[in-house]
Amino acid sequence: MKIGFFDSGIGGLTVLGHALKMLPFADYIYYADIKHVPYGEKKINEVRQYVQTAMDYMAEINVDAVVIACNTATSVADAKLRRKYSFPIIGMEPAVKPAFAYCQERGKKILVLATSLTLREEKFRQLVNKLDATTMVDTLALGGLVKFAEKFEFDTLDVSQYLKNEFASLELSDYGAVVLGCTHFPLFSKVLKQSFTEETVFFDGSVGAINHLADILEQKGIAPSLDDKIKFVITNGKLPPSDVDYKKILHAYVHSI
Ligand code: DGL
Repeated sequence: MKIGFFDSGIGGLTVLGHALKMLPFADYIYYADIKHVPYGEKKINEVRQYVQTAMDYMAEINVDAVVIACNTATSVADAKLRRKYSFPIIGMEPAVKPAFAYCQERGKKILVLATSLTLREEKFRQLVNKLDATTMVDTLALGGLVKFAEKFEFDTLDVSQYLKNEFASLELSDYGAVVLGCTHFPLFSKVLKQSFTEETVFFDGSVGAINHLADILEQKGIAPSLDDKIKFVITNGKLPPSDVDYKKILHAYVHSI
């Protein structure tokens, strides 16, 4: 089972990390389009073209499924683009739903951090409207964090200063939840959390996306091939030694846990 991961740069690693934990037996291909990063400040048609190039590559190497581990790219990946490819394409969704459930009962607001393209796209507006959460949700584009991340700069004074400036006009204690709506942002969890109170809960869409991937793989009957991953060396015993038996037991056990 070969799963393709795609992001404009290193952000998708925050999603791949969860995949490695939750679906450790798949083979993964990670495509980072650093030639065109950042996507969040580009025009929709331009980003759509980059997504198509990445998907063409995934088709060429015969993947079983692709995770677009990028909220910005997911925003522009419309049904027409998805129909072009025979493999399932799983996208990201800013985790507004769980944040909404959490904040509604506490009477707190939600702050969604993402790229400007994600925040101005129809998909995001629909997500908030459907929940009837417009008055509860504030948004802030933090494209600068994508640029810092691509320079492998996560915890510097410049990052802290940038966040301080961006947050200056907000009353941060109003927020019960912060949604990290860009896959680069969990790389800044530590420094972001320092700006909010201890009660503020952070949400991101990675686990949701990987659960979705797992469901789709199951529905389509795409099973992990443990055979490619593990080679057995079994010394001669009383019964005929067989790695097939070992594989059977391992498969059954993996499905039972
Ligand atoms: N990781 C991408 C996202 O989730 C980053 C966007 C960018 O390249 O600007 O939106």
